[in-house]
Amino acid sequence: MIPPTCRDRVIAPSLLAADFSKVGAEVTRAIHAGADWLHLDVMDGHFVNNISFGPPVIQSVHEHNDIYLDVHLMISRPDVYLDDYVKAGADMVTVHVEADHDVAETLGRIRRAGCQAGLALNPATPIAEVEPFLDRIDLLLCMTVVPGFGGQSFMPEVLPKIEAAAKLRDERGLGFHIEVDGGIAADTAAQCAAAGANVMVAGSSTFRAPDMAAAVKAIRDA
Ligand code: DX5
Ligand code: ZN
Repeated sequence: MIPPTCRDRVIAPSLLAADFSKVGAEVTRAIHAGADWLHLDVMDGHFVNNISFGPPVIQSVHEHNDIYLDVHLMISRPDVYLDDYVKAGADMVTVHVEADHDVAETLGRIRRAGCQAGLALNPATPIAEVEPFLDRIDLLLCMTVVPGFGGQSFMPEVLPKIEAAAKLRDERGLGFHIEVDGGIAADTAAQCAAAGANVMVAGSSTFRAPDMAAAVKAIRDA
């Protein structure tokens, strides 16, 4: 399969919004609904005030499916646990610029391990914080909610930051994806796409939709 470029729309349902009593069936449902990637929200109860799942769950999903695994590490020490997520089968590993690690070193390790490297910033974090790393990433994740929980409302004040990121990328001749995550549905996806984002993470609006395929298509067409 030809990998998508930053000009292609990518839909990445977030497993956090799935029914955890039947994870396998939920992954299959997302694939059949047309998901391009599966977004996996790892939370450590320290970087964010919630705990979700870790390498064993990701390993199981990897062993039974061949969908691209977009792993979002909302953890304080991604450097300490990185190898576990690589071994579990992550395709993209996204770490937070706000976490307690040497960002450049972690990004380099992710790529040397054969994964794609993503860098995330929270709504309150200015784009200047990630500027030094833009030539070392495959994806920039602009959080559109404060991380930790699904089902929150989209924060439109992040839109100018998405525009700034797209401008910097194009000025520097870079090609990283711009991913948005939190409160994304067709309406907010349209706003984010207009600002320059191409990877749409959606939890509640897809896994909790009456018709998941229709919800994925609506975000794709937004
Ligand atoms: C929040 C996570 C998001 C969240 C998205 O910390 O990073 O991926 O699960 O969920 P919705 O789409 O319901 O806002
Ligand atoms: Zn996420």
